[in-house]
Parts: sequence; C-alpha cells; structure tokens
Amino acid sequence: MPQKSTNKTPIRKAALLSVAPMMDWTDRHCRYFHRQLSKNSLLYTEMVTAPAIINGDRERLLGFDATEHPVAVQLGGSNPAQLQQATAISCDFGYDEVNLNCGCPSDRVQSGYFGAVLMAKPDLVAECVSEMKAAANVEITVKCRIGVDDQDPQTVLPNFLAKVSAAGVTRFTIHARKAWLQGLSPKENRDIPPLDYDIVHQMKAEFPHLHISINGGVTTLEQASGLIEQGLDGVMIGRAAYHQPADILCDADELIFSDEKGQGVDAAIQTMLPYIENHLLKGGRLNQITRHMLGAFAGKPGARRWRRHLSEFAHKDGAGPETVLEALAKMREIETA
Ligand SMILES: Cc1cc2nc3c(=O)[nH]c(=O)nc-3n(C[C@H](O)[C@H](O)[C@H](O)COP(=O)(O)O)c2cc1C
Repeated sequence: MPQKSTNKTPIRKAALLSVAPMMDWTDRHCRYFHRQLSKNSLLYTEMVTAPAIINGDRERLLGFDATEHPVAVQLGGSNPAQLQQATAISCDFGYDEVNLNCGCPSDRVQSGYFGAVLMAKPDLVAECVSEMKAAANVEITVKCRIGVDDQDPQTVLPNFLAKVSAAGVTRFTIHARKAWLQGLSPKENRDIPPLDYDIVHQMKAEFPHLHISINGGVTTLEQASGLIEQGLDGVMIGRAAYHQPADILCDADELIFSDEKGQGVDAAIQTMLPYIENHLLKGGRLNQITRHMLGAFAGKPGARRWRRHLSEFAHKDGAGPETVLEALAKMREIETA
C-alpha cells in the first residue's frame, strides 16, 4: 500500500544525517526502529533492483510504514527505461527520494552491470538519472564511490560528478573509498582500500553548488558533526548506526538537527511493542523485528543479557512483545546486580 508523506523533516535537512542503505539490514522493520530513535534523520531502504520492482512483489519490496518518513528508496540497475519505470512505481509508493546505487561492489551486482562499475560509465549514469528524473516527483540522488580498481579518483570523481550533475542530479553521497571489483569480497571492500576524506572535501570545494554527503568509517555523532562543521552537507552512517543505533541516533535530533532531544532507547522500545503486536497479527515473527534491535544497548550494562535473551527466544513460536519485556528485565537484573 503506497504511503504518502506525513508531517516530516524536509529531505535536504534530513540528509544532514542519514542511515546508509544496507542489504538484508535496513528493511522496513529496521527503519521503523531507527525512526523511533531519531525523527529527523534520513533513512534508506536496502538496494532494490529495477527489474525486481518491475516484475516482482512490489508490496514486499517497497511497502513501508508512514512513520518511516523521511525515507529514500535505493535502486540498482543500469537500464534507463527500467530505472524510469522503477522510479515511477517507487514514487507512487510515496518515497521521499529515489537514489541510484553506483557504489556496490558485489558479484551479483557486477554481473547485472550496475553498482560501482557505473563509476566507469558516467555517460550511462547521466542517461539513467535523466530518465529517472522524467518519471519522478521527488529528488533523484546518487550514491557513489571515489573510483574503482586502478582508476585515479582525482580524474574519475570530478568527471563523474560533472557529467551526472549536468543531467540534473544535485545531491550525491560519496563513499570515500575506492571499490575493488576483483579480488576482494564486498565485506572486505567496506574496509579496504583506505578511506580518503580529503577528496570528498575537495569535491565540495570544486562543486560548491552540489549537496555532498560523505560516507565511510564514521562511528560517532561527534565525528559526524565535525564533518558537517568542515563544510560537508551531510553524513551517512552505515555499520555504526546498525550496530550501535542508540549511540548514533538518540542524540542526533538535538546535536545534528537542533531539534528536541529524541525519546531515548527505552521509550523507543516501548513504542515498538504495538508495532510488533501488529506484525504478529499479520502472521509475522518476532525475530524479523528484534534482529535489528539486538544492538539497542550496545556498550551499556546488561547489553549482553538483552541480546542473548532475544537471540534465544525471539524466533520461537509464540514469542511476542512479552519476550521483549523479559529481555529488558534480564538486562536490568544485571544492571542492579
Ligand atoms: C550489510 C551491508 C549491506 C550493504 N548494502 C548496501 C546496499 O544495498 N547499497 C549500498 O549502496 N551500499 C550498501 N552497503 C554499503 C553501505 O551503504 C556503506 O556505504 C558502507 O557500509 C560504508 O559505510 P560505514 O563505514 O558507515 O558502514 C552495505 C553495507 C553493509 C555493511
């Protein structure tokens, strides 16, 4: 069921801090949980390929809850006509932004000729985004790398930004490391080769009219604020936001968006209970939601008890909101012990 926008933070403001698109991780349940922690941050879907949207189960692939706004869908593909169709469908679902993936190095993505290989095809990307724009009632954005394989980022990245922005994209998220298309697993490729933040700052200086967010290796909110203070328009955080959601998101509304402080992780967990109830009523299972909440108390006393209780019981038949409350009680036992 398409979800039209409700009262929400304007997209460019929300882009000050975003949670990265992460396959198998940032599904609708994860996003719903993250939204309870920060009402302003921009959330991204996992990458969904254009052919999957055109031919697949759209509600399963694109359905989301209105609470998730502001929320962006990330598309994978390199066929302009397919991307146009997938964009139109995504806009009908009510997404606030449509993002094209030009950064993912996985084999499956390479064989479909999209993701990071597109760094070497700026003309094709320009054609794709121009078709996407023609079908969209929201902003089209691009997430890219600084280059791939033996490309020289100093040449490739400005050329890529110039060509793609000439086709009408004015907001980019740059994952500040090269993608290695051969010889590294996608997982290794998230830490190797080294990050190069300088080139992202340099791109902001060379293209001051573009909205540029940086991504890669940001692990604290203070680091994110520092990058914004240095003149970047936004910071996208992936793994740290997933593994330590409270550390990254709970203070984001206050520190990054100068808004009221978020409700905090305990209150967020309470607001998850009716959502969980509703999911179970529709035939879902508890662990489909709680697997994204395991890191809620990362680094806090009792975190291990919380995680362990949910890991042990949330997949069992009959597990529900009370399982979450039991996990909270277990965690507090340790706190007071
Ligand atoms: C499990 C996982 C899945 C990912 N899936 C996607 C994806 O679907 N699309 C994408 O553009 N990047 C994907 N990425 C890359 C992240 O969006 C991000 O660029 C990368 O993790 C670097 O940011 P970080 O250091 O803050 O984690 C994925 C990363 C992880 C850890």
